[in-house]
Amino acid sequence: MGILEGKRILITGVLNDQSLAFATARVAQAEGAQVLLTGFGRGMSITQRVARKLDPTPDVIELDVTVPEHFDNLAAAVTERFGALDGVLHSIGFAPAACLDDDIFLAGWEDVATALQVSAYSLAPLVKSLLPLLEKGSCPSVIGLDFDATVAWPGYNWMGVAKAALESLSRYMAREAGKRGVRVNLVSAGPMRTIAAKSVPGFSDFESVWDGRAPLGWTATDPEPVARSVVALLSDFFPATTGELIHVDGGFHAIGA
Ligand SMILES: NC(=O)c1ccc[n+]([C@@H]2O[C@H](COP(=O)([O-])OP(=O)(O)OC[C@H]3O[C@@H](n4cnc5c(N)ncnc54)[C@H](O)[C@@H]3O)[C@@H](O)[C@H]2O)c1
Repeated sequence: MGILEGKRILITGVLNDQSLAFATARVAQAEGAQVLLTGFGRGMSITQRVARKLDPTPDVIELDVTVPEHFDNLAAAVTERFGALDGVLHSIGFAPAACLDDDIFLAGWEDVATALQVSAYSLAPLVKSLLPLLEKGSCPSVIGLDFDATVAWPGYNWMGVAKAALESLSRYMAREAGKRGVRVNLVSAGPMRTIAAKSVPGFSDFESVWDGRAPLGWTATDPEPVARSVVALLSDFFPATTGELIHVDGGFHAIGA
């Protein structure tokens, strides 16, 4: 029996089969979960195509986190299919190019606002809309994906600021959701070669440094360790853990040089 047997899990952020969310969906199904996906904008048809690589093929619900009505539609769609929810993965990030330029002063407020709205704020309306369903779930769990925001990275700039906001927000969300028995945690992943990562100009620098410094080594093309850790946090095996940030980075964060 898998560790997610009988669980109903919503996974956002599957863009293609390299997405961290896709790997998570695959592992979640292997561990016995029923899975629903969300897709976004023009990527929706790609998500629907990639969903067919999962068995059984999950439904894909539209969710653009900048469109408030989509959260209501999402909650209605989840209610219709599952009636209650045991877990959610927030695997969503975006920053306009100006936010990822090496010059931190280049981006104006509009671009920064987009980065913050999509990559950090969106966790709040997502959880808010799904909270009544999560309350009815069993040992419910919300997970977000982080990239260590305690230091500055080359080119990551406003995305790093958004991740710092996400880290803080996850603690406030844990505080609120905990009153209803819902856990909220983040997984801080090492660099992974995905579409989102390709938009970060300094990304190849992270990759080369990471594998050398991480005590356990690091493979930027293998999402399995991140997926398995997310699944563990979605399971009943961390029942008293919330407001936590778990590093899944080969141990890189613990080593100075
Ligand atoms: N790849 C890495 O190195 C890495 C490391 C640590 C954390 N993360 C985080 O993991 C998460 C998933 O990213 P990924 O690396 O799998 O890349 P990805 O490109 O596969 O996923 C990013 C997702 O965000 C979605 N998205 C963007 N704008 C959206 C919007 N307005 N509404 C709804 N969805 C939207 C995209 O459709 C896509 O599915 C992100 O939060 C990212 O910051 C990635």
